[in-house]
Amino acid sequence: TWRMDSFVEQTIGEIRERVGSGKVLLALSGGVDSSVLAALLAKAIGKQLTCVFVDHGLLRKNEGDEVEGVFGPAGSFDINFIRVNAADRYYAKLAGVEEPEQKRKIIGEEFIRVFEEEAKKIGTVDFLAQGTIYPDVVESGLGGESVVIKSHHNVGGLPDYVDFKEIIEPLRNLFKDEVRKVGLELGLPEYLVFRQPFPGPGLGIRIIGEVTAEKVRIVQDADYIYRTELAEAGLEKLPDQYFAALSNMRSVGVMGDERTYDYAVVLRAVETVDFMTAEASEIPFEVLQRVMSRIINEVKGVNRVMYDLTSKPPGTVELE
Ligand code: XMP
Repeated sequence: TWRMDSFVEQTIGEIRERVGSGKVLLALSGGVDSSVLAALLAKAIGKQLTCVFVDHGLLRKNEGDEVEGVFGPAGSFDINFIRVNAADRYYAKLAGVEEPEQKRKIIGEEFIRVFEEEAKKIGTVDFLAQGTIYPDVVESGLGGESVVIKSHHNVGGLPDYVDFKEIIEPLRNLFKDEVRKVGLELGLPEYLVFRQPFPGPGLGIRIIGEVTAEKVRIVQDADYIYRTELAEAGLEKLPDQYFAALSNMRSVGVMGDERTYDYAVVLRAVETVDFMTAEASEIPFEVLQRVMSRIINEVKGVNRVMYDLTSKPPGTVELE
């Protein structure tokens, strides 16, 4: 198989030459691109790199700790790693907000505020590193779509708020599969390198309507069970993206002798080539039944589980 060892070796040389003894700052999301970039920079310049990881409280279950485990002091990279636990700030900002684009906007802006505060503490850096990859370059070159269905702003605008001299984008010429090969080459764990796409606004757009800490707990636990059971059934590579979402619907059920009035969890799994169109995956019924039964029994506040059959279009992959 074709490997990326020559890319790694050459790029490390280029980074060292360009950065010299300078300081580099990276916004680490824990996604594939920024994680691979962090690992590459770590190999090249070690402690000259500072990674700021903003945990917005909208990550999947255990994800914040996983990122910290790989890049924090207990991990194998010798870098400066700062985790900001900002969940309460985000939940406060999102209280009472129901409109999906409004939620995206708040989450995006709060990210900039939190990152800006951290960057101020660090002071002027020489370089801001960005995990831009080739498809990002091509997409922005095509100009905006005429109709904005969803605004995908994760770290958009960050350079305006950070005091730095130059941007470096070492992954700029790579396709996604090449980025993954580089990640493996650098010794990143497979679960991180083959992560499915996860939206920047995270669980914020997988909870329909208002986001609360309680709803985040429900969707994290339901999603964790869904992922565990798909993996258990050997199906984790079948869909291109799959997750549990929380509908804003509560309905009547019965648990023992008690009437319940609780939330409905929506399971989604899609197969797609480019995420522009998608089809619902044919998850075996008995697997769905097992997931349903575990979610209802183990996740407090849920009394109904539904499977989303909708294609894109007319649906979208995410529910918001
Ligand atoms: P949709 O829901 O638009 O999703 O069919 C297509 C792909 O894009 C991801 N997605 C997002 N990614 N910020 C992101 O970084 C966002 O606001 C956002 N909304 C959707 C979605 O997870 C899927 O992979």
